[in-house]
Amino acid sequence: MQEEDLTPGVDLLESMRSVGYSLEAAIADLIDNSISAGASLILVDIEPITGSHIAILDDGVGMSPSLAIEALRLAGSVGPRTSADLGRFGLGLKTASLSQARRLTVITKRDRVTTALRWDIDHIKTTGRWSLLRLSAGEAAGLHWADRLGQQPSGTLVVWENLDLLLGDSSDPGGFVRARVAPLIESLALVFHRYLHGRQGGIAIEVNGNSVSPRDPFLATNPATQQKPTEHIAVGGAEVSVTAFTLPHVSKLSPQERKRPDLGDQMRESQGFYIYRNQRLISHGHWYGLARMDELTKQTRVQVDVPNTIDHLWQLDIKKSRAEPPASFKTELRRLMGRVVEQGKRVYTHRGRKVDSTDTIHLWSKVRERDGFRYEVNVEHPLVSGLLAGMPTADASKVLRLLETISDSFPSHDLFAEMAGNTPVAAVQRVDESALELLRLYRDSTSARPQVETVVATLAHAEPFSAMSNLEETVRLIWQEQPSGT
Ligand SMILES: Nc1ncnc2c1ncn2[C@@H]1O[C@H](COP(=O)(O)OP(=O)(O)O)[C@@H](O)[C@H]1O
Ligand SMILES: [Mg+2]
Repeated sequence: MQEEDLTPGVDLLESMRSVGYSLEAAIADLIDNSISAGASLILVDIEPITGSHIAILDDGVGMSPSLAIEALRLAGSVGPRTSADLGRFGLGLKTASLSQARRLTVITKRDRVTTALRWDIDHIKTTGRWSLLRLSAGEAAGLHWADRLGQQPSGTLVVWENLDLLLGDSSDPGGFVRARVAPLIESLALVFHRYLHGRQGGIAIEVNGNSVSPRDPFLATNPATQQKPTEHIAVGGAEVSVTAFTLPHVSKLSPQERKRPDLGDQMRESQGFYIYRNQRLISHGHWYGLARMDELTKQTRVQVDVPNTIDHLWQLDIKKSRAEPPASFKTELRRLMGRVVEQGKRVYTHRGRKVDSTDTIHLWSKVRERDGFRYEVNVEHPLVSGLLAGMPTADASKVLRLLETISDSFPSHDLFAEMAGNTPVAAVQRVDESALELLRLYRDSTSARPQVETVVATLAHAEPFSAMSNLEETVRLIWQEQPSGT
């Protein structure tokens, strides 16, 4: 048998351009490289007038001349990967860049040596060879931020020009790219939120002068967020950590948080697993079929931390924007999910849960019917039953009918529509005063005045008294008052 080396044709580069990167994913892939290179400041410039270039400058360790050449080779070999490396295939720099632009220039500086290299699709097409261009210092100096890199001790500048695939046939390239800045910032704020916190050495990212602040999808700093203990699951010899969060009801969000689309009208699409690879968000917004993207589960988000050692099991795609968990892991997740989703649902349903002997007695009961459920005023609530008991029968049945009518006209459709749009239900401020009034009503409605201890025992589990810290004291005071009308 004989063998021959068959190198790929140069058209491969053109084909690689259509992997399907979004602008956000392409820039995130370059930021991965900067983070792996130890950068602490990463600047992105999207030329806002003509859309002529996008530049990404970092202050990482930079590359030696030979490393820079390897870095520009498709699937180049750049040595062993550390466990903190955000790279994977040795393709990102090339495919992400060329998915947006026809020309990719890398200027990198290490140990005071600067190297400038370029892949230019048009040049390759003309030569028909994999001809990498080396720029002279003078040629490199004309590029945006080349001077800035020159002033740094080390770092790497990536410049994309001729943004054909990004711009498409837009007649206003400047306007087109300017409109992309805000969504890019939103996306990077989420994808790198755990780096931007400063925990991993504190990384700062700026896009066109705007600093990107972290967007924690789990609202870990909001005191009303419920965080479950982290569970560790063994997968393929590595450990995957899973932490479930139940986000606060919209009424407990800060005004700042309420402005976030993922906590507002996009809340429902934002539930599900958040898969992180080395703390970098890879994908989110799905349950891998383990739960439904339901209105009731929309408070639940689950952080899944995957190390880069089991990439092969997770079917990580080139763009690092999709990862499918291995089957064994899905089985474990399914086990965890039942409990987690149930907790998320309670954020919505606990106020209406059906009375049971150990639980709070609610003023509204939820009644299951064959075709769904409805709410009704709980006439067994001591307040209602006490009031009715002290009334002449004819009056009591009138009040009962009124309560039934109120129950039947409960505006559930309207409530659902409002809540689906995340309108907060305003908290009622007058609970305290009205509770006192209700206590007086209760005192006067029962014909034989019961003992304070009995009253406290009866009401301690009934809304709204169950929320009062000084119920016994209050009942005592009110019981000592002269009943009205005597
Ligand atoms: N900003 C950068 N700073 C230092 N080295 C870089 C930078 N960008 C890329 N490199 C080097 O180029 C190599 C190839 O990058 P890339 O094509 O993105 O593939 P991968 O990140 O999967 O290794 C990296 O492994 C790294 O050694
Ligand atoms: Mg990379």
